[in-house]
Amino acid sequence: MTKTVLLSLLIALPAAAQRYQAPVITDTTALRGPRQPIFFRHDIHAGQDQIPCLYCHSSVAVSSEPGIPALQTCIGCHQLIGGSTPSHQAEIKKVRDAWRERKPPEWIRIHALPGFVHFPHQRHIKALGTQSCSTCHGDVQRMAQVNQVSTLRMGWCVGCHVQNKVSRDCTVCHY
Ligand code: HEC
Ligand code: HEC
Ligand code: HEC
Ligand code: HEC
Ligand code: HEC
Repeated sequence: MTKTVLLSLLIALPAAAQRYQAPVITDTTALRGPRQPIFFRHDIHAGQDQIPCLYCHSSVAVSSEPGIPALQTCIGCHQLIGGSTPSHQAEIKKVRDAWRERKPPEWIRIHALPGFVHFPHQRHIKALGTQSCSTCHGDVQRMAQVNQVSTLRMGWCVGCHVQNKVSRDCTVCHY
């Protein structure tokens, strides 16, 4: 899907009653996960507005790193979309300012394996499907702020490998 098509699709979406509505959040201190430099909400983008995960994490199916989208991806929409509430407008202003000043936000990394572990994302997406994100990351499209829900410990990896009859040789995950 091209960006223009997706954008017009979003604008054309009727405010249908059955569409998921992300909650209004006034107090962010109770949210789990680290506070990011811009309050970017997955429950609004991936939940309410149904932007596919792969639109932003486009390399997840082809590389070991899913990647965090560049500001260019954001500005493709936010040049036009300024926000419907004062708090949205304030956060979106940060996106526009960052773009103008060429200062991309320094997103805090949430999931991180130690350097001696090898985790090829693309192999997992190929085997488990592009809808499998929630198996490991939980219901991200309902999260206002991303937090880690799986332990990411060795036992967690090996447990699923045993279930799926994947090799559990030490050298599969450790070089
Ligand atoms: C509009 C773009 C966009 C969409 C759509 C999107 N994401 Fe993200 N995602 C981001 C950005 C920006 C970050 C970094 C900031 C943050 O953590 O919220 C991020 C962070 C994450 C992280 C945490 C990364 C880390 O540091 O460990 C996960 C996991 C994730 N996204 C999964 C998903 C899943 C699953 C979907 C679909 C349900 C999705 N994302 C849809 C932009 C997007
Ligand atoms: C495909 C279009 C699209 C893309 C791409 C997109 N957004 Fe949005 N964004 C929206 C829409 C629609 C809203 C809801 C606006 C409203 O009603 O206030 C929104 C709302 C927001 C808000 C206010 C609500 C919130 O999430 O806290 C912020 C901040 C924001 N976007 C940041 C970003 C960032 C950062 C990126 C890039 C990583 C991004 N957006 C990419 C469409 C997009
Ligand atoms: C089998 C489990 C599993 C599945 C399925 C999975 N992930 Fe991950 N994801 C992980 C692990 C483990 C990490 C930490 C990897 C590391 O530190 O090397 C991670 C890290 C990430 C990150 C942060 C990496 C970065 O570059 O900052 C994002 C974003 C992400 N995943 C998105 C997704 C999306 C989107 C999907 C679905 C298309 C998905 N993941 C499916 C296990 C999974
Ligand atoms: C939800 C199930 C699941 C979880 C959790 C999971 N994996 Fe996997 N993993 C798979 C499947 C299925 C494959 C087989 C992919 C294929 O056949 O290409 C695989 C393949 C791999 C491979 C490639 C194996 C090869 O033969 O080359 C590596 C490396 C790997 N996983 C590492 C990890 C690590 C490290 C973790 C934990 C951080 C992990 N996996 C967690 C399901 C999982
Ligand atoms: C499916 C992937 C996978 C396989 C197979 C695997 N490991 Fe690991 N291992 C991990 C992950 C992920 C970590 C880091 C998280 C943790 O410490 O639990 C880890 C951590 C470790 C550590 C460090 C523990 C610590 O407390 O610091 C050792 C030692 C280790 N593995 C040895 C092994 C040996 C020996 C084998 C073969 C019998 C093996 N691993 C097979 C994924 C794997």
